[in-house]
Amino acid sequence: MGSTIIVGGFFGDEGKGKIVAHVAFADKPTIIARGGIGPNAGHTIEVRGQKFGVRMIPSGFVYANARLLIGAGVLVDPRVLLSEIELVGEAKRVGVDHRCAIIEQKHITLDKEDPHLSRTIGSTGTGCGPAAADRARRTTIQASEVQELAPFLTDAAAEINQALNAEENVILEGSQGFGISLYYGFFPYVTSKDTTASQIAADVGVGPTRIDETIVVFKTFPTRVGEGPFETQMSEEEAKKLQIEEFGTVTGRPRRIGWWDPKMAAYSAMINGATQVAITGLDKLDPNVRGVHEYDDLSTKVKTFLRQAEEEVGVPFTLLSTGPELAEIIDLRGEKLYHA
Ligand code: GTP
Ligand code: IMP
Ligand code: MG
Repeated sequence: MGSTIIVGGFFGDEGKGKIVAHVAFADKPTIIARGGIGPNAGHTIEVRGQKFGVRMIPSGFVYANARLLIGAGVLVDPRVLLSEIELVGEAKRVGVDHRCAIIEQKHITLDKEDPHLSRTIGSTGTGCGPAAADRARRTTIQASEVQELAPFLTDAAAEINQALNAEENVILEGSQGFGISLYYGFFPYVTSKDTTASQIAADVGVGPTRIDETIVVFKTFPTRVGEGPFETQMSEEEAKKLQIEEFGTVTGRPRRIGWWDPKMAAYSAMINGATQVAITGLDKLDPNVRGVHEYDDLSTKVKTFLRQAEEEVGVPFTLLSTGPELAEIIDLRGEKLYHA
């Protein structure tokens, strides 16, 4: 297998956390490395009724045998990271690239108080935008300068490339989604960095020639938090009627809900260089398929949707999620379910 990048294809919150966790149990990587922006992300993973929300450590942490790395491109809020390490008891496995830029209180304050960021853009208030700006001005401090991070410091890029040299499996985990990429999203209603697969590879220090698989994650009903265009958005009443409302992991804000968008999905798959698609929320399309493990047991409605969507996107749909639980998935990559 080698290296697999997992990124969001819509506006974030596609369920990357759950997909990363599944691929980890199935592929047994020695390293799961997090790229992406910073603690503005919120990944949710549900395992046997227990729900975890993480913002900094890779969501693959539920798979116990991988080293958990944070790539140099990621903005680190030491308080968030240290509290997550404590919460999940993962001190031994975590490594932070010594070059990560640090989010300080002043960045969080500015993110919350600047009306352009907090109101016009609707930022998460986690300090990511102001810290990214300071990083570009070259005034941020690096992880190597933060005493509390000393036990975790590493050269994440070197570790990952060595694992690939040894033909081990590695998962490179993105955050956010294509529609809020600084370059390819709906500017200015975007986050502070690109969110595509190429950026994730750069964040963790892996060159483009070393990427084997790129899995783009979509959800049957895309969602968006914060401001900005959302072409297929439905009304709150429609979402309520369909019982598909959602709330943000980090902010608790209600997510705007939309209909499946084939045009955006195809464009996003193209720029991400998708080799596979993971789709979540099939149970939202048809509650009868909740928890289904076999493709043949899916309903005609869901199969018809999948056939059409696969044709529209032009990339094989290999991971079909039938509920929020880790085990609620159909893996068509020819692997068996290791965690069921
Ligand atoms: P960001 O990195 O913040 O973009 O988040 P994410 O992509 O990891 O997604 P997040 O966890 O924020 O949101 C996805 C939500 O959908 C979570 O509450 C998951 O538990 C849930 N989820 C994942 N897969 C499925 C599925 O197949 N069906 C249903 N109903 N929910 C799912
Ligand atoms: P920022 O990344 O906090 O600066 O927020 C900029 C925009 O990106 C806002 O519209 C946020 O709601 C959105 N955003 C940032 N992180 C996420 C995420 O993890 N999921 C969904 N939207 C996000
Ligand atoms: Mg999220």
